[in-house]
Amino acid sequence: MRKNIVAGNWKMNTTLAEGLELAKGLNEALKNKTTNCDVIIGTPFTHLASVAAAIDTNKIGVAAENCADKEKGAFTGEVSAAMVASTGAKYVILGHSERRAYYHETPEILKTKVELALANGLTPIFCIGEVLEEREAGKHFEVVDAQIEGSLFGLSAEDFGKIILAYEPVWAIGTGKTATADQAEEIHAHIRATLAAKYGNEIADNCTILYGGSCNGGNAKELFAKPNVDGGLIGGASLSVEKFMPIIEAFD
Ligand code: G3H
Repeated sequence: MRKNIVAGNWKMNTTLAEGLELAKGLNEALKNKTTNCDVIIGTPFTHLASVAAAIDTNKIGVAAENCADKEKGAFTGEVSAAMVASTGAKYVILGHSERRAYYHETPEILKTKVELALANGLTPIFCIGEVLEEREAGKHFEVVDAQIEGSLFGLSAEDFGKIILAYEPVWAIGTGKTATADQAEEIHAHIRATLAAKYGNEIADNCTILYGGSCNGGNAKELFAKPNVDGGLIGGASLSVEKFMPIIEAFD
């Protein structure tokens, strides 16, 4: 059975003190609550260890937003998958469109990052998604297929079974313009079919596929009601407990 997940991605927001306050606030809000989804927060590297120590990590998983494509050594400023794992984080967001666009992360680089994450016991939350021109040209299906094939289809079935996917149409990220629930369902179903063709129905059925892109308390319920939408990767609305909780509660 695949899991429902609501994951936050704080991006480059919050000082350490602000991030701790946010994480503790969410921890408090979830303390006596039973959720119908797993909850994850993706924080800047600088916050990982402190956040993991300040919350109940059985209730809230902690994710890094990136990791290096090298194992260790003379790579000034980089943070390895092993370092991320040593903080108490259990997840790492990889392939976010902002990393692809601004930091030139190619499918090959991301393939290496995924492998290093898995080798260090981290669960990758692997992001895919098309830009507006690709959607308008009707190329969105082939774009996501290429992203998946280029970085993930070298994995064994066992390793692929550990991956969480996040479909994030770039035109919907931070724009307030969300994909409709039908648009999300259509491409999520397509992605699952692509996975089934490569790894078989069981692995495809068990893969959690999140939707990301201007998801909020107002649209989450309709999106998550779709059979192939297993939750969300949330940017802006994960930066306040008041906005994040209704998205988690969309599964109630
Ligand atoms: O990783 C999260 C996505 O980029 C979505 O961001 O919810 O602010 O649109 P957003």
